[in-house]
Order: sequence, then C-alpha cells, then structure tokens
Amino acid sequence: MEFRYLGRSGLKISEIAYGNWITHGSQVEEDTAVACVHAALDEGITTFDTADVYAGTRAETVLGRALKGQRRESLEIFTKVYWPTGPGPNDRGLSRKHIMESINGSLSRLGTDYVDLYQAHRFDHETPLEETMRAFEDVVRQGKALYIGVSEWRAEEIAAALKIAEERGFDRIISSQPQYSMLHRVIEAEVVPLCEREGIGQIVWSPIAQGVLTGKYLPGQAPPPGSRATDDKSGADFVKTWMRDEILDRVQGLRPIAQEAGLSMAQLAVAWVLQNPNVSAAIIGASRPEQIRDNVKASGVRLEKELLARVDEVLGDAVVRDPAHTQSPATRP
Ligand SMILES: NC(=O)c1ccc[n+]([C@@H]2O[C@H](COP(=O)([O-])OP(=O)(O)OC[C@H]3O[C@@H](n4cnc5c(N)ncnc54)[C@H](OP(=O)(O)O)[C@@H]3O)[C@@H](O)[C@H]2O)c1
Repeated sequence: MEFRYLGRSGLKISEIAYGNWITHGSQVEEDTAVACVHAALDEGITTFDTADVYAGTRAETVLGRALKGQRRESLEIFTKVYWPTGPGPNDRGLSRKHIMESINGSLSRLGTDYVDLYQAHRFDHETPLEETMRAFEDVVRQGKALYIGVSEWRAEEIAAALKIAEERGFDRIISSQPQYSMLHRVIEAEVVPLCEREGIGQIVWSPIAQGVLTGKYLPGQAPPPGSRATDDKSGADFVKTWMRDEILDRVQGLRPIAQEAGLSMAQLAVAWVLQNPNVSAAIIGASRPEQIRDNVKASGVRLEKELLARVDEVLGDAVVRDPAHTQSPATRP
C-alpha cells in the first residue's frame, strides 16, 4: 500500500481507503463487515471513512466494533456530519448545535476519543458559514477532530470557507470528498483547480461507480444476485443512476483495456482515479473481503497516457463532466 499526504497537511493516509456506506449495518451482516475491515487492515489500508448518517448511525457502531483492539495511532478514522441523524429540525445540517452534538455521538459510536478528519457532508445553505466554521474550529480545539474537510462542496463554497479561516485564524479545510470515477468527472473543471492551488486533497468516493465499473452488470441482463443493484434496503436506489444499457455497454468496452494492462476492471477503475495528483485517496466500498483484496492491487499502478486516451474514447459521452452536478440541497434535508 502506498501513502499520500492529505492535501498540504502533514497527515499521511493510505491511498486506498475503506468506506462503509450501504454495507455496514445495512446490506451486509456484522461478521462480513468485520471480515472486510480485517481484510482492509491486512492489505495495508489504514484509512477508514464513515458518516453519522450511514445505516441510521449503525455503520459507525459496526466500524467502531470492527476496529476495536487496533492501535489507534496506526489508523486514520474519518467521519461526517450534515444528513439527518434524528427526527428533530436540529438533528441535521451544520449548525453549531448539531455539529457539537453529532461529533459526540460519532465518537461514542466509533469508540474513540477523536476522529482524524471531520467532514461537512454537504454545504448547509440554512446556516451562516461563519457559524459552521467556528463550530468546526471548536471541535478541533477540543481535540475531538484533528483536521476538517468537506464533501461535495462547490469550488466557490470551499473558497468562501477558506476566506473565513484566513480572516479568523481558524484551521483550514484540508480535504474535499467528491464523487469521482472514470464515469463521473465533475470535479475536474472547478473543484480540482481550486484545491490544487489551495493545498486541499480529494478523497474520492465511488471510484468504481458503486460496482458498475467492475463490468459485472451486463446490458439487457438482470444484475447478479447479492450485488448492490439487488439490495432493496438502499443500494439499488443509489446505483440505478448508472444502470442504463448505453452506459453498461460502454463499460464492457473497457474489458480489453484492463486485460492488456494486466488489471481487473475494478483495479483499472481505482488506478484511474489515483492518476490524478490532486487525489489523496480513493475510498473503496466492499460487500465481501475478496473485493478488497482485488481492488487494493491498484495501489502504485501507473497508467500510460495512451491507455487513458483509450478509456476516454470507449466511454465517450457516458462521462458526466458538468460542474453543476456538485450541488447540496437548497434546504436542509
Ligand atoms: N461523501 C459522500 O457523499 C459519499 C457518498 C457515497 C460514498 N461515500 C464514501 O465512499 C465509499 C465508497 O463508496 P462505494 O461503496 O459506492 O464505492 P465503490 O468502490 O465504487 O463501490 C463499492 C461496491 O462495488 C462492489 N464491488 C467492489 N469491488 C468489487 C469487485 N472487485 N468485484 C465486484 N464487485 C465489487 C461492491 O458492491 P456489491 O458487491 O454489493 O455489488 C461494493 O460494495 C463509501 O463507503 C463512503 O465512505 C461518500
């Protein structure tokens, strides 16, 4: 496993991180979740990503239990705040009240005194940004989080947060967590250029487009049993964006490219996002330990320019590029 700095910070993270959205506390049983975490650790993954909202808060509890007994200093644990964690109007968003309450809930579920990175899961248009940034600053000063980051924020939202940090002497955001894959490249136009200038690293989610870039979903055919597209708890709903024959057809066109490079389709997809120097880590998900053992082999892989050009040619207009796709809800969920 290779390590990268998270943006311009001094924090090193495994360039492949493991995330537990959809899986822990929901799609997979706890023994499988624990086996996946142990497989990740065995493969050299030290960076784990979760969120208060995943599986209605159960995902943090499962991850905490799975990591129990590990040396804390050898792990980087990331979580997030914004999406609803309870029924009330203050159980969501980025108000000082919810940030202060949610970090305590996350720490207790994760069984740790601090998280390495605390991320704003979306931009909250209903809370003054100054209030959010000051609350994050206080979380850091209290030692409950070591660094702060954001997820799915637009370039101008990140710039506004940096300006407040600069004016007030607050800690700066060090990371951005966007969706990024061969199929979804909306950060390239605006978010990445700003983040390169400002020393912010991308920790990218769904690098294999939730399993679609493994090529296992075939056009015109039912999804394989046990796959995310058959998970009626929530997985199927999320992956359906990509479940169109015109996309699945093009993905099959990547197969010879992966074969020639000596990579599995999943490895090609993970290696592809890691070619972007602004990417600090790819967060992979897995419903089975063997998926982790396959996907981690993408660490350290260098892809030739000619191969990257062939990928672009094959995927053509299936690639989503419009930066307007980076969008937080206009009102709190
Ligand atoms: N910040 C955000 O808003 C946000 C949003 C989404 C995700 N995330 C983060 O990103 C992490 C990863 O997201 P993701 O799970 O969508 O990532 P992903 O790596 O693109 O997809 C993972 C899924 O693909 C399938 N898969 C993985 N490897 C495979 C292989 N070798 N062969 C066949 N199938 C394979 C598995 O699903 P099945 O086996 O069930 O088909 C697995 O659960 C999340 O856990 C979370 O930490 C963040």
